[in-house]
Amino acid sequence: MERLQKVIAHAGIASRRKAEQLIVEGKVKVNGKVVTELGVKVSPQDRIEVDGIPLEREEPVYYLLYKPRGVICSVKDEKGRKVVTDFFKHVNKRIYPIGRLDYDTSGLLLLTNDGEFANLLMHPRYEIEKVYIAKVKGIPAREKVKRLEKGVALEDGVTAPAKAKVLSIDKRKQTAIVELRIHEGRNRQVRRMFEAIGHPVLKLKRERYAFLDLKGMNPGDYRELSPHEVKQLRALALAGSPYVS
Ligand code: URA
Repeated sequence: MERLQKVIAHAGIASRRKAEQLIVEGKVKVNGKVVTELGVKVSPQDRIEVDGIPLEREEPVYYLLYKPRGVICSVKDEKGRKVVTDFFKHVNKRIYPIGRLDYDTSGLLLLTNDGEFANLLMHPRYEIEKVYIAKVKGIPAREKVKRLEKGVALEDGVTAPAKAKVLSIDKRKQTAIVELRIHEGRNRQVRRMFEAIGHPVLKLKRERYAFLDLKGMNPGDYRELSPHEVKQLRALALAGSPYVS
């Protein structure tokens, strides 16, 4: 038995607070009867409707995928390109990616069918630390690396403080490998940050997401998160504090 507002939130329709509001406003029915009281518990057999639409309930699942390059971060693609959910065709659940990695970016991606969990991890206020490894054109000077750390002016605002480290340089090819740790998750943020300092990204990989990494995995591999990892991620996001390694 679970609280009605939690079940609605898990279905991804609304945050838990919004779900409570929907209940109080009389928009939720359980087995055909309007429920306006908070705290009512429901079982998996109970039929729930929100605004007249039956709620589809599924066991929540959580996956970590090593996304290869050349895969779209979506559940379907009009042009018929490979999408991240193609790796989970045998999983009979409506899972979707938590956030995005570009088509050409590889690395750690979480997928779930738990809407509340996805919203929590993607909420800008709770943004979790992500570590990217970028191969960039040219060799960034110290002050350029500092700019990445202090904040770069992008068209949607200055980026929040970050950590950047040059891991290696190739003088002959005039390229560098740079580690960038950020907490935000704006669209194409890492590529735009490097572009802004004059060192466009040639190759990009997300190596870590909070305490999760890709050790022992190859592109295309995936695994289920353990209940403990799910709990830790939730706690981390709610604490609103960056994971410090
Ligand atoms: N930043 C980018 O520019 N691309 C990604 O895929 C992820 C973060």
